[in-house]
Amino acid sequence: MRTQVGIVGAGPAGLILAQLLHLAGIESVILENRSREYVEHRVRAGLLEQGTVDLLTEIGAGERLKEEALEHHGIYLQFDGRREYIAATEITGRSIHIYGQQEIVKDLIAQRLGYDGPLLFEVDDVAVHDFDKHGEPRITYTHEGRQQRLECDVIAGCDGFHGVCRPAIPKGVLTTYQREYPFAWLGILAEVAPSTDELIYAHHPNGFALHSMRSSTVSRLYLQVKPDEQIEYWSDKRIWAELQTRFALAGWTLQEGPVIEKGITPMRSFVTEPMQSGRLYLAGDAAHIVPPTGAKGLNLAAQDVRVLAEALVAWYSTGDTAQLDGYSDRALRRVWRVQDFSHYMTTLLHRLGDDPFDDRLQRARLEYVTSSDAAAKSLAENYVGLPEY
Ligand code: FAD
Ligand code: PHB
Repeated sequence: MRTQVGIVGAGPAGLILAQLLHLAGIESVILENRSREYVEHRVRAGLLEQGTVDLLTEIGAGERLKEEALEHHGIYLQFDGRREYIAATEITGRSIHIYGQQEIVKDLIAQRLGYDGPLLFEVDDVAVHDFDKHGEPRITYTHEGRQQRLECDVIAGCDGFHGVCRPAIPKGVLTTYQREYPFAWLGILAEVAPSTDELIYAHHPNGFALHSMRSSTVSRLYLQVKPDEQIEYWSDKRIWAELQTRFALAGWTLQEGPVIEKGITPMRSFVTEPMQSGRLYLAGDAAHIVPPTGAKGLNLAAQDVRVLAEALVAWYSTGDTAQLDGYSDRALRRVWRVQDFSHYMTTLLHRLGDDPFDDRLQRARLEYVTSSDAAAKSLAENYVGLPEY
């Protein structure tokens, strides 16, 4: 088989890239190692920046989103028994939307299959070859028991943090920057109406907690836990008791309901530089990870592929490689802005350890960001997304 762009991974990055290319008349094939059922039900991100909503709308994947997404205009920061509001829309003129990542994935898959765009699920043994500048890029894989080979002009590695594309880049090309945090997130989906109109980020001596949502009937909640925590030790009863403790506020009640999904996610910051090698381009989680406190991973993945698609369109239409050569530099500017913000939100809100000095600093920062217009503006413009990046 031959195509123009071989895309590894049918997460948000791979699917959005394929659609952007399709609209520009560029062919691609997407190879995904999981089943359609699995990727359509993997519970992950929920918060979209205005720029992501606009991009999905532009590529024709915004119809259901427009009907079902919840529009939010700010966030609550809770600490010291107080709950303060950061009025992000009032400050920035932009809003954020709640719409589950798996719903975006469902919409994009339906769109792709709707025009018979090549998208293969359950492919095994994916490997990328010969992608140096003068090579002839190829992807080999097994599908329905048969070994296959896909020849292409370029390869897009959209296969997430644990994918095969980044490790295929020759030693010495990439430099990685990373930070591990001494905690993880335990997340639940619960069949209960959200107890809040907008998200609550809570700083508590027991650790961070977040109240998010998916719809008017489904809540999404997270608890900071130990990095090696075992989900088996967290009964639904224990999870709700801990959430009640961390969100406790006079005159407010956290409603409980049946837990329909739960899991633990490690927290890390990670960047690889550059995000390209020869004719292999990395996008999304394949190139970087941010801790979820800033709600940025999916939004960043969407912006990476927007930049990559623009560069590919320029190359196919003019033969000039300048934009493709500059892909990584352009994408990394935003990546590092978002890394900084995600690290800021993470260290602002989590219990970092047992040092009371850290705790006092955090409280001083929370006090400042909820009382100074300048500090609130900085948080708000980063949270809703900086369009000029
Ligand atoms: P992925 O979604 O990981 O997609 C990669 C795809 O490649 C997958 O489908 C995978 O199965 C496939 N794949 C992997 N290896 C191979 C292979 N060898 N061959 C073929 N296919 C392969 N982000 C936000 O913006 N807002 C949020 O509110 C937010 N909350 C989050 C909460 C949690 C609990 C978690 C875990 C993440 C959150 N994120 C959030 C981050 C967001 O989910 C990711 O950044 C996003 O999924 C990145 O998209 P991607 O397409 O780059 O990678
Ligand atoms: C979510 O709804 O899953 C979510 C929202 C905000 C975050 C992280 C996750 O910061």
